[in-house]
Amino acid sequence: MSTWANLGLQDSASPLMEQLIFFHDHALLILVMITVLVGYLMLMLFFNSYVNRFLLHGQLIEMIWTILPAIILLFIAMPSLRLLYLLDEINEPSITLKSIGHQWYWSYEYSDFNDIEFDSYMIPTNELSNDGFRLLDVDNRIVLPMNSQIRILVTAADVIHSWTIPALGVKVDGTPGRLNQTNFFINRPGLFYGQCSEICGANHSFMPIVIESVPVNYFIKWIS
Ligand code: CUA
Repeated sequence: MSTWANLGLQDSASPLMEQLIFFHDHALLILVMITVLVGYLMLMLFFNSYVNRFLLHGQLIEMIWTILPAIILLFIAMPSLRLLYLLDEINEPSITLKSIGHQWYWSYEYSDFNDIEFDSYMIPTNELSNDGFRLLDVDNRIVLPMNSQIRILVTAADVIHSWTIPALGVKVDGTPGRLNQTNFFINRPGLFYGQCSEICGANHSFMPIVIESVPVNYFIKWIS
């Protein structure tokens, strides 16, 4: 989770998030280079004293400054497209979790096992324990095995919600009457926090998500 003064991305806990961070840094680097170059050129325009009274055309330079940005854009578009398809890939998941958005809480179903379903409400500030995180902790956590492919199905019962876990690179809308799917792989144990990210009503800010990532044998113990 994010702690004080963390303005960047959270540390990744999944291979997809790692790729997303690489792409972010790559795109930002290109952006900085363009900004510096254009900034330098604009600054220099103020200080030069050339007039170019007889300048009518410059075919070559126009060719260059039209084609060059197109090539630069390709260097962003290609990795972006690769990531887009990578995020949608389903890699033979070992378990499936279904999460249903409600106003204003999430409910979960482990469809591979009989009758495992529960609601997950935020713990109100006045009921929070001393080591709890305000507006972020829930009464019933999702427990998931680490180092395994997990498929998640997202839907909603009333309005659109969004199941979002920054550290795992997951963000899927839950839409009434639709079932969205994605998958992820958690590569370390721990708690991963997320929040709803569709403006879904008065208590939109108060439907957090907590994943407890545990080794597979712990998970089997929990589920049984
Ligand atoms: Cu549910 Cu915002």
